[in-house]
Amino acid sequence: MKKTPHIPLTRPTMVPFNAVEPHLRKAAASGFLTNATYVRKLEDQAVKLLGVPHAVAVSSATAGLILTAKLLGLTGEVIVPSFTFFATIEALLWNGLTPVFCDCDPQTFNADPASVESLITKKTSAILAVHVFGNPVDLTGLKRIANAHKLKLFFDAAHGFGASYRGKPLGRHGDAEVFSLTPTKLAAAGEGGIVMTRSRDLAEQLKIARDYGNPGDYNCRMVGLNARMAEWNAIFGWQSLLRLPKWAERRRTLVVHYRNGLSGLPGIRFQKIPRENVCSYKDLSILVNPEEAGFTRDNLADHLKAANIDSRRYFYPPAHKQDAFKKYLKKKQRLPITDYVSTNVLSLPLYSHQKVSEVKTVIRVIKDCYRRYSGRP
Ligand SMILES: Cc1ncc(COP(=O)(O)O)c(C=O)c1O
Repeated sequence: MKKTPHIPLTRPTMVPFNAVEPHLRKAAASGFLTNATYVRKLEDQAVKLLGVPHAVAVSSATAGLILTAKLLGLTGEVIVPSFTFFATIEALLWNGLTPVFCDCDPQTFNADPASVESLITKKTSAILAVHVFGNPVDLTGLKRIANAHKLKLFFDAAHGFGASYRGKPLGRHGDAEVFSLTPTKLAAAGEGGIVMTRSRDLAEQLKIARDYGNPGDYNCRMVGLNARMAEWNAIFGWQSLLRLPKWAERRRTLVVHYRNGLSGLPGIRFQKIPRENVCSYKDLSILVNPEEAGFTRDNLADHLKAANIDSRRYFYPPAHKQDAFKKYLKKKQRLPITDYVSTNVLSLPLYSHQKVSEVKTVIRVIKDCYRRYSGRP
């Protein structure tokens, strides 16, 4: 296979340095290097962009999830998808909660409400769902279940900037939604997260909790963390959020190129985005059906690699098969859809400033994989 110039899976789309430089200077001159003016600007921009009343910036989405789970006063079991990134599960475990793994939907890859409902016991206190790859989860279905069983409901929206559900951006649902600003996300602060909530009380508690639990008088009110965001990160995050709509649109255009280029190829299908929603495409994920394609997901990943193109088996293995978490799978419990999706899923290169020519190269190399495995020239 002829090598192409290296195509990475993702790259952070950076704000022009001259847009951040004066602010970096200002922050340095102010002497306030963390949780100050630029963190407020970032929070205000998130409120404006998402149309949700409260934003609390934190050092990472993981920290935001840990603090949110703590402040919601959860106990016992929390239902969570196994098809997610490990931080979702870890946030529960840091709170001494038991993750109960639900299965996912074979089309959307998101938590399947029927599976969630079947796992509710007397010990269940909450549902923590994930907008997988920026595809909004079935919020209506999950809200109905949470209301009917009086459960807390919160969301790992780490992939959620740039996505919307029924015409409105994510961030307004359940008790809270937690976004990430790490370099693989559409808006990157370097490190960072933002908890969005409609609850003033929760937002106020989070602001104390991210500062060790100290409301300012050095009489600690709760067990908190140092989960503050530095001003440097906030400057990059704020400037990225200003550009987010443009970047998200660009990704959607690139995805159209991928869809057009790969449509009709046997055994490849895309994550389904319900028509009324918009996906952020934090990742562009395909499923490879080996019987129809004539090759496996791993064959395709290897073929791309040989051509100098990165891809990722993501999320693989699923959480319920990982060493740290497998003991939480209930006895005799099976997650057949999660197993299927995880075994066959592959993320293709995508980032907001990617060139269409790169997408075309990836498509060409995928088509070449069919020739290789069919034996045809
Ligand atoms: C689904 C999901 N949840 C949580 C996280 C953790 O976010 P952070 O790195 O900001 O802590 C990630 C990170 O990529 C993620 O993909």
